[in-house]
Amino acid sequence: MKKLLALMALVLMSHPAFAEEAPKWSIAIHGGAGTLDPKAMTPEKRAAYEADLQRALDAGSKILAEGGAAMDAIKAAIVIMEDSPLFNAGKGAVFTWDGTNELDASIMDGRDRSAGAVAGVKTVKNPILLADTVRTQSEHVFLVGKGAEEFAVSKGFAVMPPEYFATPARLEALERLKAEKLSALDVDHKFGTVGAVALDQQGNLAAGTSTGGMTGKRWGRVGDAPMIGAGTYADNRSCAVSATGWGEYFIRVGVAHEICARLKAVRALNWLSFDTKGAAVTPDAEEKTATVQEIADAVMADVADLGGDGGVILVTPEGHAIFSFNTTGMYRGRATSAGVNEVAIFGGEEKASSTPDH
Ligand code: GLY
Repeated sequence: MKKLLALMALVLMSHPAFAEEAPKWSIAIHGGAGTLDPKAMTPEKRAAYEADLQRALDAGSKILAEGGAAMDAIKAAIVIMEDSPLFNAGKGAVFTWDGTNELDASIMDGRDRSAGAVAGVKTVKNPILLADTVRTQSEHVFLVGKGAEEFAVSKGFAVMPPEYFATPARLEALERLKAEKLSALDVDHKFGTVGAVALDQQGNLAAGTSTGGMTGKRWGRVGDAPMIGAGTYADNRSCAVSATGWGEYFIRVGVAHEICARLKAVRALNWLSFDTKGAAVTPDAEEKTATVQEIADAVMADVADLGGDGGVILVTPEGHAIFSFNTTGMYRGRATSAGVNEVAIFGGEEKASSTPDH
């Protein structure tokens, strides 16, 4: 019996959730949320998505493990997903009503809350890198359309032809939407927006999001992804968030900033809460994790109350790497220095606890 207990203790201690130290770094990524049907997911399709998610996660993790910056980690992860035709960002973006691919992206540095964003660009291979160049090499935060493209050229970005972004599957979705008078949700099934959030070993947070928007979008429609505060937010005092979902609702709730603001208030009170008798309770690591999850879930519930759906990823200065979504699935992954490393697609597939170990 003693031996069995010792063995159980050993197994528990080796689980990432029970490791001795808090994560020194952590990263979470997403490749879109939506009404994903497990029956429609062939093993080959699943393997292809998981491989690209893992590549993105590994690229970001490597930078963080080697002591690199959260900003560099999220850019590396997002570029891989923008270059993959599987996701609705960069190559493989959805088509507008007019048959073009219009790309939106934003990025934010939690150290100083510097931010950059672009919307409606048609010729830039990696919009996330253009958003970052707006952040670092302009006095602005948000550039759109032709002006954003002129800025890109002035900073040495190559001009990509429309064929680079177009994929047959996305064109077929547009044609079906028009022929059968469907909505974007009917043909897309998921919001294939991509995003990444990270905490580095210096304690800095960063967040970024990139998307093609929604199939058949018209009249210069822009969603939440390039909007700082809606689709993306990072603040070292609270958290880093990237969202995917029905942009109009995420804008109305101000999802990314709302989550960070609520978490900032909790952290400012040193995580103190009160029991039913009004006595102050200092939560342990697991209760802190539950609080972070509750905050993300509450804001997502607010989105759902308005009629929207989608999901978010977030990391905290404590190293939490959290997912919250109100759809059947979200392409996602997370890794931490405490040994968590996983990608998942449908709800409830996580293997690791996201509790930082302090
Ligand atoms: N969440 C991406 C969009 O609505 O455009």
